[in-house]
Amino acid sequence: MAKVKTVFRCSVCGGTSPRWVGRCPSCAEWNSLVEELGSPSGDREHAATTQAVPIGEVDLQAWHSVPTGVPEVDRVLGGGLVAGSVTLLGGEPGVGKSTLLLQVAAAMTRGERRVLYVSAEESVQQVRLRAERLGTITPTLWLAAETAVPAVVAQVAAVSPDCLIIDSLHTLHHPDSASAPGSVTQVRECAAALVREAKARALATILVGHVTKDGALAGPRVVEHLVDTVLSFEGERHHALRALRVVKHRFGSTDRLGMFEMTGAGLGAVPDPSRLFLADRRAGVPGSVVVPMLDGHRPLLVEIQALVGPNGQAPAPRRAAQGVDRGRLSTVVAVLEQRVGAPLGRADVYASAIGGVRVCEPGADLAVALAIMSSLAGEPVPSEVVVCGEIGLGGELRQVNQCERRLAEAARLGFTAAIVPRHAPDPPPGLHALRATTVGEAIALAGIPLP
Ligand code: TYD
Ligand code: MG
Repeated sequence: MAKVKTVFRCSVCGGTSPRWVGRCPSCAEWNSLVEELGSPSGDREHAATTQAVPIGEVDLQAWHSVPTGVPEVDRVLGGGLVAGSVTLLGGEPGVGKSTLLLQVAAAMTRGERRVLYVSAEESVQQVRLRAERLGTITPTLWLAAETAVPAVVAQVAAVSPDCLIIDSLHTLHHPDSASAPGSVTQVRECAAALVREAKARALATILVGHVTKDGALAGPRVVEHLVDTVLSFEGERHHALRALRVVKHRFGSTDRLGMFEMTGAGLGAVPDPSRLFLADRRAGVPGSVVVPMLDGHRPLLVEIQALVGPNGQAPAPRRAAQGVDRGRLSTVVAVLEQRVGAPLGRADVYASAIGGVRVCEPGADLAVALAIMSSLAGEPVPSEVVVCGEIGLGGELRQVNQCERRLAEAARLGFTAAIVPRHAPDPPPGLHALRATTVGEAIALAGIPLP
């Protein structure tokens, strides 16, 4: 008889362990492993289920994407939704996932398509009220409040939509599943059932997924590999700006970014995010530096601020980062200490990216470094200067990718000088390149006295 294997699966990250342990070996969460019965193992013979074809004869028609009608979403998806594809939209509660999808649903129905919006979190009345606020009441947008997967499938059979939206995956359950509702196994089984349904009916499906506080999709990896596309909707709760990012995309590139603004009448596209980011910037303040980032294909100017304070009575200095990668912040602080002798060993250092954006790329290292040095010295970086470059552990500056596009964006917004690594490409007209080999040289070029 085939042996039934038991594994223990982490309900936070989806990692597995052959035996129960108190702390997940993958994500180090305490008490998160749940027993899960595996399928019987053993070798069986399988017949081929499809016909192999020469590569040149593969039919690409099936991958034809249809615009949703929300231009910013279509841009991110590289055209629109593919029939039979399954898209997971992740984001923190309150970021605007339901709002975005209601707008997508309504836009699709204006193209004469039928959309079924299954609300497993809110009542149909609540969804209708929101749709009224958004002005998205259309005759072919259907609503159903269901939480069981077979009931959702029955609704799909009854409405026969072109697109199915499930809000959200984590509030669905599958009555055939033996695992607890909300567990990773349940979430995965619900997702798998919906993926089968999508493929069988060539139904474009969008699943809303929750993310945990550190930004990972809850229950997550296990769902990510089941679906064709994973989108992440991000933004700070207290800011209006939202970014739609592609994490995985079987039908196109993953480096596109959509920008939205949450308004009283729903989400609107942001035509010029750089200008918006810099709108409230105060010139001449120490600790403020503008970096031309590249988010997806899109150049974005972002203000980085740093504040350096003396360490009080605390046993260890504080390093707080908001929107700036903590690991990179620590590295930059260490390099400044070791390579230019900045007295940061006992100082508290705060760094933040303004506007609720997340700056994770190494190309922002130099901006973080100059913001810190500017705050430390109480000397502002000239307000017409942008800064870009990666810092190596030796304090050397390294080039960043697509520097021309970044600098072109800076020139467009009226900046006149850029501090860049020695071998960076020539800047566009109107922008003067200040070239530096080391972080120390860059500090001097910014007019900040070295410690
Ligand atoms: P929601 O779409 O419910 O977020 P999610 O589904 O990701 O949990 O929207 C969340 C917030 O957006 C909510 O706090 C109210 C706000 N909001 C607006 O500011 N304007 C609007 O037009 C709508 C519909 C919502
Ligand atoms: Mg919601």
